[in-house]
Amino acid sequence: MAELQIKIQSVLKAKTKVTSLKSIKVGLLGIGTVGSGVFNVLQRNQGEILRRAGRRIEIAMVADLDTARAQAAVGKNVTVVADARAVIANPEIDIVVELIGGYGIARQLVLEAIEAGKHVVTANKALLAVHGTEIFAAANRKGVMVAFEAAVAGGIPIIKSLREGLTANRIEWIAGIINGTTNFILSEMRDKGSDFDVVLKEAQRLGYAEADPTFDIEGVDAAHKAALMSAIAFGVPVQFDKAYVEGITKLGAKDIKYAEQLGYRIKLLGITKQMANGIELRVHPCLVPAKRLIANVEGAMNAVMVHGDAVGTTMYYGKGAGSEPTASAVIADLVDIARLHAADSAQRVPHLAFQPQSMSTTPVLDMGQVVTSYYLRLNVADEAGVLAKVTGILAESGISIDAVLQREADEVGGEGSTQTDLIILTHDCVEAKMNAALAQMQALPTVLAPIIRIRKEELV
Ligand code: NDP
Ligand code: HSE
Repeated sequence: MAELQIKIQSVLKAKTKVTSLKSIKVGLLGIGTVGSGVFNVLQRNQGEILRRAGRRIEIAMVADLDTARAQAAVGKNVTVVADARAVIANPEIDIVVELIGGYGIARQLVLEAIEAGKHVVTANKALLAVHGTEIFAAANRKGVMVAFEAAVAGGIPIIKSLREGLTANRIEWIAGIINGTTNFILSEMRDKGSDFDVVLKEAQRLGYAEADPTFDIEGVDAAHKAALMSAIAFGVPVQFDKAYVEGITKLGAKDIKYAEQLGYRIKLLGITKQMANGIELRVHPCLVPAKRLIANVEGAMNAVMVHGDAVGTTMYYGKGAGSEPTASAVIADLVDIARLHAADSAQRVPHLAFQPQSMSTTPVLDMGQVVTSYYLRLNVADEAGVLAKVTGILAESGISIDAVLQREADEVGGEGSTQTDLIILTHDCVEAKMNAALAQMQALPTVLAPIIRIRKEELV
């Protein structure tokens, strides 16, 4: 009993100590899906968060275009304004959280907040992928933090893992399912055997895909996130403009089926690798061995594999989007800032993991220089010598074949069909070599349709 009393007293003492510190005041710009999650989780878990942060984190002011909706969301004790600049101008506010999205007004507001000496938290991957260099340079000049855990893979703490948990490692590669919408679509295509267009409509009806899903399905959203991870992993500037980006719009149910028969699943991967001659940075559909954990990440879930020279391969899995999963990451950033904002800026974890003066100029490789293996599907005339001609071109190009699958013509084109599908898996080769071989194969009169090429990664 006496022991219990001592324990209670020490907890109370600790609580008094942390609560005596001045609270950190946060200004929220935009209270939509993520903003409302941040408000709700902060309210619900304030006791736990206080004990971790050492001080109260208080949303003191909110800006949103729809002030009535915002006020209803936060209650009457929080000041709500329509003008985001009023939040930035408020000297009481320590941290500005940008949850508006896009590159327009969000860029101006983030730069103005930095200029006003505020720390910034943002979930805006598009903004940082395109304007990251400018924003981080401004933050370094002003000695403020710009934290962006929520910008990559939503609730998964991948930025913290890369910047801190894996800091001992020379990162060799990262490969991730970092867009939930496309992973949902690919999972449905595999489950139901439906084509892309059909599943996209279903995803929109269910609210998974946005009314304008272009950034998701064209791979742009994943490329934003891959560019951020690449910068942190390799100590290079954020270079979204140099990324190779290919989405899932041209994928057919047929290729998903053939890949399955060969022991692979097709995933949209964001990949970045440190090679001897530069950095690979690419987003495209990819065959992954079905036995890999990441191949079994289904629906709207995200997963990121990171290979470090010391740790080996690690994998991080969870929800990449949604109100509270994303809020979880935003609040983690708020707690980090609450703990570190009084520290000398030189002692903080650098924005992009490496010290700004130690950034590397290693180039991002052109896609033609990338080395990978391939799945090829050729729709060909079902006649003698076709396979020999195709494999002859690959042999002359120095491209080694891993496996060949030829379907029965009847199975492909119906009874009596005179055309068939030839599926070839290759070993690794340089993309430029494959491009040249593809052009030669495509020119054969017996190749009847555009050749489908999907890259393949073994991820070991
Ligand atoms: P929402 O569209 O739900 O919320 C944005 C909010 O900002 C809306 O309430 C909008 O008001 C308001 N707004 C727009 N312009 C202004 C302005 N000038 N001043 C003040 N408020 C403004 O977006 P999300 O919450 O989904 O996304 C926010 C950010 O988080 C984006 O960068 C997004 O990419 C990122 N993100 C989102 C995830 C998610 O799951 N949703 C996951 C990971 C990152 P109104 O509605 O009236 O236009
Ligand atoms: N549109 C994104 C996705 C939201 O589908 O993953 C999270 O960044």
